[in-house]
Amino acid sequence: MIPLSVPNIIGNEWEYVKDCLDTGWISSAGEYVNKFELAIKDYTGSKYAIACMNGTAGLHISLNLANIGSDDIVIAPNLTFVATLNSISYTGAQIILIDAFNDSWQIDVNLIQKWLEKNTETKIINGKPTTFQKSSGKKIGAIVPVYVLGGFVEIDKLLKISYKYGIPLIEDSTEALGSFKNKKHAGTFGLTGVISFNGNKIISTGGGGMILTDNEKIAIKAKHITTTAKKDPLHYFHDEIGYNYRLVNILAAIGLGQIEKFSTILKRKKEIDFIYRSELSGIADIKFQKNSASSNPNCWLFTFRTKKMSKLLNYLNSKGIQSRPLWTPMNRLPMYSKLNYISENDYSNQLYEECISIPSSSNLKQSDQEIVVSAIKNFYNK
Ligand SMILES: Cc1ncc(COP(=O)(O)O)c(C=O)c1O
Repeated sequence: MIPLSVPNIIGNEWEYVKDCLDTGWISSAGEYVNKFELAIKDYTGSKYAIACMNGTAGLHISLNLANIGSDDIVIAPNLTFVATLNSISYTGAQIILIDAFNDSWQIDVNLIQKWLEKNTETKIINGKPTTFQKSSGKKIGAIVPVYVLGGFVEIDKLLKISYKYGIPLIEDSTEALGSFKNKKHAGTFGLTGVISFNGNKIISTGGGGMILTDNEKIAIKAKHITTTAKKDPLHYFHDEIGYNYRLVNILAAIGLGQIEKFSTILKRKKEIDFIYRSELSGIADIKFQKNSASSNPNCWLFTFRTKKMSKLLNYLNSKGIQSRPLWTPMNRLPMYSKLNYISENDYSNQLYEECISIPSSSNLKQSDQEIVVSAIKNFYNK
């Protein structure tokens, strides 16, 4: 089987993990957590980086620190991995789903703008714009854009919306480590951004996450609340209900080994992307995800669009080439099917029916990539 997207252990991971085991620092305290946070902070250019146990926890805490609760509405894409919506649901907020752009597959910011214009009113409260849904009086508490497959959302337009309506952005940049726009890293534009180190991500700690923010207060609070809100380590005095969302030292040790090799991993991802694009362009009805000119995406998981997706998926999997459709859109999942879904053309469902992801691990051998390419060409008789 040629796998879809697996970890690539090529650095000091073994040595660092052995150090944890040798010294007994395997759990929730230890220097690797600090070192990993520092490395991600430096790489992304974020002022602060706070490690946590996974991306979902990072999103939950971010929403929590943006004061999102059951009186709020949060705007999110219909085309995403379920964790985006789950993390919002944990806060009790109501969710508005927005369709995707047909070409970039990212949240359609024009639909957000239209929906806000028609359905909300903005008041100045404590000197700041604050936006409420006219019908329910609920506050629009946050927008959670997702960098689908590590590509860039229309961040400039989102920032304008955020500023005009006073709605914070919590960036689900879980898939976007290594993606930049005009040299600024994904997840560093909004109030917070979140990176995931899940097993299939561009680098992995097995499971892990990182909250990025430039806001000192949020950073301090994020560290505090993800580590059980312990004020006094001797007397175990906790000053609020916190979470045990820590990234443990042994996983941070793996993360440090991974990020130290990130330039090699990222370079290989881009080579893989370049080869697939060159080999597959012009074949039948194949179309690629469109990225804006000023963005430099991480090419995390190679995905293309074809009306024959379903048949091709079965064909490739039967040949031992692991392939996958995009996520079932949120409005098709039982727990989210009754949410208000804002769409004019339902592109997210078309994309789900037509997009296929193919092997893109950074340790994919050249000979295996050739096998994938020729299988796809064979399928289309090219
Ligand atoms: C778009 C998106 N959001 C959220 C997550 C959640 O991250 P994690 O699996 O680290 O909880 C993931 C990845 O798994 C994801 O792809």
